[in-house]
Amino acid sequence: MLFFIGFIPIWAFFIEPNLLITRKIEIKDPALKGIRVAYLSDLHICQDGKEYALNMVKKVNEQNPDIILLGGDYIIVQIYKNKSMKADEIIKILAGLKAKHGVFMIFGNHESRPKTTKLIIQSIKDTSIKLLQNANTKLQIADKSVYLVGIGDYSNNSHNINKAFNGVDSAPVIVFTHSPDIFPYIPDYVNMTFAGHTHGGQVYIPFYGPLEKPTHLLGKYIKGLYAEGSKKMFVSSGIGNSHYKIRLFNIPEIIIADFK
Ligand SMILES: [Fe+2]
Repeated sequence: MLFFIGFIPIWAFFIEPNLLITRKIEIKDPALKGIRVAYLSDLHICQDGKEYALNMVKKVNEQNPDIILLGGDYIIVQIYKNKSMKADEIIKILAGLKAKHGVFMIFGNHESRPKTTKLIIQSIKDTSIKLLQNANTKLQIADKSVYLVGIGDYSNNSHNINKAFNGVDSAPVIVFTHSPDIFPYIPDYVNMTFAGHTHGGQVYIPFYGPLEKPTHLLGKYIKGLYAEGSKKMFVSSGIGNSHYKIRLFNIPEIIIADFK
């Protein structure tokens, strides 16, 4: 037992943050049946993270998704004894992502500085990545018309729901965003929402819960699937780290969602 407890810090600091799993989830929704979505959030790629990020891109592509949704926090503003990779270098890596119907992105709270967003907007011009910051697009996936709506980050007040949904009609809607706290304000007719931001608390203590509760609702939406009324949201615990490179019971994850 003592050996096990002593091993926890080694696991949390040196092993778990370097892992990466592909978490497959199934969502029952006949209106979106057959669609496969990859959702990646909170990448927080550091200067020494190139190999890890390239492996992430390879793992996502292997899943052959219809669409790839990038949920924000690509850089890291502050992390102990490390530095963020530059945003343009990150985009060069993400340009390798391949999906049948497109790769789409929004900004997280770490992309709140105009210098960063400008560099990302400039860098994606040479790629197939499309920015959907408070914007939407209509996709034709197999026999289905689907709206994809990207909403800016609620945690730093970058969201604009009216603008994001402008022109959306009766077709099914998939939303992707950064902070899950926006969930109560998502219209009832939205089929599915994907969010991140929380890192699942990053360090999740058994019988206590997440060590860090960054959401304004004091941890109401931490990770996993939430359903309220007719609405559903999946919150990913993300891939990278903030403050310290440490994770416990929050193995970095790529979300692959299959609608059934
Ligand atoms: Fe984050």
